[in-house]
This record gives sequence, C-alpha cells and structure tokens, in this order.
Amino acid sequence: MKRTIKTLAIASTAAVAGIMGAAYVGLFNVGADDPHWAPVHAFLTMARERSIAVRARDLEVPNLKDEALIRAGAGNYNSMCIGCHLAPGVAQTELSQSLYPAPPNLAKVGVDGNPANAFWIIKHGIKATGMPAWGKSMGDQYIWGMVAFLQQLPSLDAEQYRALVASSGGHQHGGGESKMHNHEGQHGDNVSASGSHHDSAGEDHHANQAGDDHHGAGHAGQDHHAGEEGKASHHEAEQAQDDSTPAPKKHTHADGKEHVHES
Ligand code: HEC
Repeated sequence: MKRTIKTLAIASTAAVAGIMGAAYVGLFNVGADDPHWAPVHAFLTMARERSIAVRARDLEVPNLKDEALIRAGAGNYNSMCIGCHLAPGVAQTELSQSLYPAPPNLAKVGVDGNPANAFWIIKHGIKATGMPAWGKSMGDQYIWGMVAFLQQLPSLDAEQYRALVASSGGHQHGGGESKMHNHEGQHGDNVSASGSHHDSAGEDHHANQAGDDHHGAGHAGQDHHAGEEGKASHHEAEQAQDDSTPAPKKHTHADGKEHVHES
C-alpha cells in the first residue's frame, strides 16, 4: 500500500513536470485557428458546464413572458450581441466566423431552456472565449431582458425581429440612459442594413475559408474596419474586448461608466 502511494506520487509529479516542460518549450498551440485536442475539449466543456450550473442554480428567474422585458432585451441584443451571435436576417460576421470557441448562433439555438444559466453567462462572461462579462456595465434587469428575449428569438423571422427591435427604444443599461439611445450609425442600423437573403443560407459558405477573402458578404451592415484597415486584431477573442482594439467606439453613460463598442 505504502509502495503504491509512493509510486503514484512519483508518477503524478513526473506527469505535472512533463506538462509544465511541454508548455515551457512552447508545445501547446494557443492559436484560435487550432482546435483543442479532443480530451482537452471534453475537459473544458465539463468544467464550463459544472462551473455555470453550480453558480446559477440559486438564481431567481423573473417572469420572462413580460413583454416590456422582452422588448428591452431585443434592443440591447441588437446593439451588443449580433456581431458574434447573429440574428434573423443578419449574415455571418468576421467575429462570428473567427472566434474559437465559435459563438453559437443564438437565432437558431436560443438558450437551451435554461434561463438561469444564460443569465449567469451573460452577466459574468466566459474566460478566454471572447464572451464578455456584460454585468460590468449592465444592471441585472437589462440582462434578464436579454434572457427573456432570447427565449423568443429562435421563433422570430427577420421581419418580426426587426419589428421587435424597432419597438424597443434601442440600447439601454443600468445607468438611466435616455430612451432612443441606439448608437446611430454604429450598430443600431444593422437590422435594416441586412437583407433576408443573408439568412440561414449564408450559414456555411464561409466555413472553410479562414484566411480567404471573407470581406465580401459577412458584414451585416456593421463595418468595423472603418478607418482601421491593416490592424485586424479583432480576430483574437481576448483582444475583442481589449481597450486596444483599433478605434473603439466609446461613450460614457449617465452614471459615469464608460462603455466600449468593438463592433
Ligand atoms: C465578441 C463576441 C461576443 C459577443 C459580442 C457576445 N458574445 Fe456571447 N458568446 C461568445 C462566445 C465565443 C460564446 C461561447 C463561449 C463558450 O463556448 O464557452 C458565447 C456564449 C454565449 C452564451 C451561451 C450560449 C450557450 O448555448 O452556451 C450566451 C447566452 C451568450 N453568449 C449571450 C450573449 C449576449 C446576450 C450578448 C450581448 C449582450 C453576447 N453574448 C455578446 C461571444 C460573444
């Protein structure tokens, strides 16, 4: 017994040293265009799911059928999320195609029937994936609004989506912003700028073209290259949220919080 424990201890110390050594000599590829090794992927998926389930289980879910809540969520979703998660009538974007892990197309999959988990993810984000912690700038009620809206999203077509966003009063969060604050010309016009011919048919024609000319169809009206050609650092998940993103669109809210739009 004693011998077994000793052998196990030596073996695990050697394994840890081996992994540290491999990392030190640069064996692991952190490139977002190099998918995880299957066992690593399985481990990360399990850790992610358990982490969220444990932290979200005591959340109290408000009435997600409340129409005002859904409407408010539509405006915020359209302003802040479609660059990565898309929407009915919104074509793939460079962000949606280049991030790893890929942001799920929430217009198709919604939030899998677990609103508390969705709330937790939106509020806290997910490390090293590009999914931001929106709780840093948004009050809980606005996050619940987006959760309520996401319950409806998969059942909306492009026209219904546009109508709901148009009725929403635009982008609002936490700091008591005035209504109709919807970032004219930045991303508030995404909806009207994208035609329904970009809809689901556009799903996979870019799939294997990383590095090819993907500047053709994927913009959905939000040209985040404006004046920044040549500095394509938004291809990296971490940097997408970084203040060093080229020409960030900043504004300050009524409560003094600063808010940066990367798309
Ligand atoms: C810069 C890109 C980006 C933006 C912007 C973004 N997300 Fe995400 N989001 C991601 C990525 C990447 C994931 C997947 C993370 C993972 O696989 O663990 C994700 C995951 C999620 C999930 C979990 C989905 C699931 O089925 O597991 C929800 C819900 C979500 N995001 C909601 C939002 C909302 C709401 C907004 C806007 C307020 C938003 N996201 C903005 C990148 C983004």
